[in-house]
Amino acid sequence: MISKKVEKALIDQIENEEQSSRFYMAMASWCEVKGYPGAAKFLYKHSDEERIHMTKLIRYLNDKGGYAVLQKLDMPDSKYESLLQIFEKILHHEVSVTQNINKLFETAFSSKDYTTSQFLQWYIEEQIEEERMFKGILDKFRLAGNETGGLFMLDKELDSMSGAKTTDVNPG
Ligand code: FEO
Repeated sequence: MISKKVEKALIDQIENEEQSSRFYMAMASWCEVKGYPGAAKFLYKHSDEERIHMTKLIRYLNDKGGYAVLQKLDMPDSKYESLLQIFEKILHHEVSVTQNINKLFETAFSSKDYTTSQFLQWYIEEQIEEERMFKGILDKFRLAGNETGGLFMLDKELDSMSGAKTTDVNPG
């Protein structure tokens, strides 16, 4: 049976993942109306992946005898300065998600909940992949500059990256 402390920490992370899904959904919607269809497709896909991260946690917690109660969500931003700003916000966001995952792992491990610690390994690896991917995309932005042609190419590339699971794609 999972402890109340670990259950609470998992519920907090479920909330974070659901919030992340909205965060990407809001950005995808902005990209779609601002003429970046590739970025929109990529971000819609990533929003779905965050929902999968959430569902995986919910099902794990319920399976271990806890109860995954969903929490209230915040309203995401709806105004962005540029596509570059969106990807800067994303990297910042994912760095903070990594910190949350590490804290969650620490809570499980220090509670001697080795089953949950083992389960969280997947999330630790996922965060490494996500940070690497978003850093790679930002490097491409630096190369593209603010030129319309460069942004057009980047948008097309994001479109092609949204075919696979987004973190399966090597951005380099
Ligand atoms: Fe659920 Fe983007 O990590």
